Amino acid sequence: MNTTPASSVEMKDVHLAFGEKEILSGINLSVPQKARLVILGQSGGGKSTLLRLILGILRPTKGEVTFKGLTVSRMSRLRLNRMRQKIGMVYQYSALISSLSVRDNLALPLEELTRKSRDEIDQLVDEKLELVGMADARDKMPAELSGGMRKRIGLARGIIMDPELILYDEPSAGLDPVISSVINELIISLSEKIGATSIIVTHEMDSAFKVATHMAMLYQGTIIAADTPERFKNSDNPVVAQFIAGETEGPILQAPQKT
Ligand SMILES: Nc1ncnc2c1ncn2[C@@H]1O[C@H](COP(=O)(O)OP(=O)(O)OP(=O)(O)O)[C@@H](O)[C@H]1O
Ligand SMILES: [Mg+2]
Repeated sequence: MNTTPASSVEMKDVHLAFGEKEILSGINLSVPQKARLVILGQSGGGKSTLLRLILGILRPTKGEVTFKGLTVSRMSRLRLNRMRQKIGMVYQYSALISSLSVRDNLALPLEELTRKSRDEIDQLVDEKLELVGMADARDKMPAELSGGMRKRIGLARGIIMDPELILYDEPSAGLDPVISSVINELIISLSEKIGATSIIVTHEMDSAFKVATHMAMLYQGTIIAADTPERFKNSDNPVVAQFIAGETEGPILQAPQKT
């Protein structure tokens, strides 16, 4: 059977513990194809962990994560590698290899995972650099770039394989408002241009509302709300309302982690 499921990613009752400590305790989440789902949550709440579960880097202690209808934890190594070629990951701190030029950082996955010629690879690298407005940085080393530039290069690398799903870990955290807006616009235009599904984890409200077509809030190990951005904005759930407003008064405790 080879029908395309309506959801790109699904999580069903996903639990994850590190030792005694349960970080995720029953996540249910469905990410429609081509959606830009923003997952909001406190620092240390398990957002990056959630992305690692989708990539199959971590396995749930209970429950199931599926990508395009296939269970990630039941995939063979070969299938997992094939799946990962369809997923682009944009890391919080760009994670560029410092000893490689921008061109070589972007070319690496193409060289390792495809049989494309050097010319074809160069063309794809240039294309992606163009998309993020960084064509001039092609021959620079990561150390020569500012944080915002590195972030854009990280984004270009995340989409180098034309992924069906792009995972963004705090894409605009720590950037100035202008660069942050540039990144937000890129997230939107990339999802539209390559028709990819996007999952963006963040605790930055401005960015969240700019890019989201769907929103979910992770709190104390579960998804306590999943809705449209409009309904999120007017949510009467006290946790959601407090988080969005950034209030200190409310149900969210200062200490974010469960012990
Ligand atoms: N490999 C690991 N081993 C043990 N504990 C871990 C591991 N990875 C994460 N944790 C713990 O799991 C919790 C959630 O971490 P995670 O990185 O997913 O949070 P986060 O929501 O991404 O936070 P932030 O917004 O600060 O990036 C934290 O308490 C963290 O210490
Ligand atoms: Mg994180």
